[in-house]
Amino acid sequence: MKIAVTGTPGTGKTTVAKKLAERISVDYVSINDFARKRDCIISHDEERDSDIVDVKKLREEMKSTDNCILDGHLSHFMDSEMVFVLRCKPSSLKKRLEDKGWKEEKVAENVDAEITGIIEREARNSNEEVYSVDTTDKEPEEVVDILQRIIETGEGEEYEKVFDWIEKEEVDVV
Ligand SMILES: Nc1ncnc2c1ncn2[C@@H]1O[C@H](COP(=O)(O)OP(=O)(O)OP(=O)(O)O)[C@@H](O)[C@H]1O
Ligand SMILES: [Mg+2]
Repeated sequence: MKIAVTGTPGTGKTTVAKKLAERISVDYVSINDFARKRDCIISHDEERDSDIVDVKKLREEMKSTDNCILDGHLSHFMDSEMVFVLRCKPSSLKKRLEDKGWKEEKVAENVDAEITGIIEREARNSNEEVYSVDTTDKEPEEVVDILQRIIETGEGEEYEKVFDWIEKEEVDVV
């Protein structure tokens, strides 16, 4: 079993993926760490302070890894049985990213990415089983409960539809 947890930075991937892995007794794999260990980093974007990953190579390297939860905003490009996209209301995401101490520009760039829903679109374009979960007013444990239930029962119809903040008129921060 291989399950991907993806989403815009700050939506809670690492927090949720670690708890979920512990809960269902599988390994936790950070895509970023894995990419570094397997020499899949092409370069570093100084301006964005982020690694540029060779996704094709990473995908190949990842094939031998199983029984795990994959954490990272590239995890939906790996082979997996199901993908969870964590979403967070733009105004709340802004606060979460500011709390991380990120600079204004980087916060704005990621809030924009959440509004446009680019990660979710990528995830849905390349995977069959995708569930979008709003983390905004939930505790991390509640999100883990939802994910665990979907994994164990296969029932998650209400999370199968595309999430759209613009449609929900939740774009007040821009
Ligand atoms: N329901 C929730 N689920 C997950 N995280 C939440 C939730 N509510 C609040 N948070 C907080 O939001 C922050 C999410 O940070 P986290 O590092 O887990 O995000 P991330 O998606 O892994 O970001 P990055 O892409 O930068 O690694 C944490 O401080 C966490 O406590
Ligand atoms: Mg993280």
